[in-house]
Amino acid sequence: MSRKKDWPGVIEYYREFLPVTDKTPLISLQEGNTPLIPAENLRRELKLTPRLFLKYEGANPTGSFKDRGMTMAISKAVEAGASAVICASTGNTSASAAAYSCRAGLKCFVLVPEGNIALGKLAQALVHGAEVIQIKGDFDVALKLVLEIVEKHPVVLVNSLNPYRIEGQKSGAFEVVDSLGHAPCYQCMPVGNAGNITAYWRGYKEYKEKGRSESLPKMLGFQAEGSAPIVRGEVVKDPQTLATAIKIGNPASWKTAEAARDESGGLIDMVSDARILEAYHHLASLEGVFVEPASAASLAGLIKLQQDGYFKGEDAARDVVLILTGHGLKDPGRAIEEVKPPDAIEAELGAVLSKMKLE
Ligand code: F0G
Repeated sequence: MSRKKDWPGVIEYYREFLPVTDKTPLISLQEGNTPLIPAENLRRELKLTPRLFLKYEGANPTGSFKDRGMTMAISKAVEAGASAVICASTGNTSASAAAYSCRAGLKCFVLVPEGNIALGKLAQALVHGAEVIQIKGDFDVALKLVLEIVEKHPVVLVNSLNPYRIEGQKSGAFEVVDSLGHAPCYQCMPVGNAGNITAYWRGYKEYKEKGRSESLPKMLGFQAEGSAPIVRGEVVKDPQTLATAIKIGNPASWKTAEAARDESGGLIDMVSDARILEAYHHLASLEGVFVEPASAASLAGLIKLQQDGYFKGEDAARDVVLILTGHGLKDPGRAIEEVKPPDAIEAELGAVLSKMKLE
């Protein structure tokens, strides 16, 4: 019997680590238990020294890591008697909020930056019946508006400023340790609003405190160069990157991301869009793992650090886990732009064989 078949979702599986009681109604899509895929091809082809593993969060029910936090946030909202939730989003949070809300019978409002949300994510939010409000402004403005709304109206915030989101998302760290049998030496991940790096660090620390692991990883976070407020040490007014998921100039969890970086002895660096795209292609063509551009920042960052000689001594051959936060199908526009689809040919054997160079 496969483990997946019995998997109850992150709340039920990690109940003892989460703020739930027998009275908390569980709103779950059996999220979590995502694959930790060894990446020997990447290691060999790119001459990377550490042992590489890909935590493929695109395998979650709505195609991103957000489901881990959303199952908690929506379950707790229902427990508290809420009837509506709201979030600002670059897309994945809104897709996840929409899915879990309709399952729970909650009204879901999402504010998204017009023209800066990948098509798959917009489609998800709409298909799940959320009230999608596109604003003529960026994510940072959307979040500001949402925070004003929740202050005065009976609508529950489900952005990662909602503490239950972080609680659920820390389950990603638990799974990495459970799969590897120990904590990795390094963990690479994209950083946008900075909730996920906060959550993973909390997860690793709690697991160690409870005796489930003996060590802690160095947290290596990566922002896009045109959208790197934490790296630059100041708010970015007009953030730019093709990785729209992390196009954020003023991250809500800025301080806790810095704490994760400093306490772990890691770093938060930035990678160019060109490097992100290069990593996007490497993941797809060398390992068969299709991610959205923001997720490729994990590998882009690893490659950059390897080239800079960051990995030294014994640590250079230890385990690195790359968190691949979202599925490639989220952003079909980017994929098609990258790999021009072929023109149609005659539906005739000779023409097909000729195309295959088999005549
Ligand atoms: N990767 C993907 C695919 C994301 O969607 C996000 C954030 C991140 C990485 C960064 O995670 O914000 O916790 O640092 N997406 C949010 C959203 C902002 O609205 O979907 P973070």
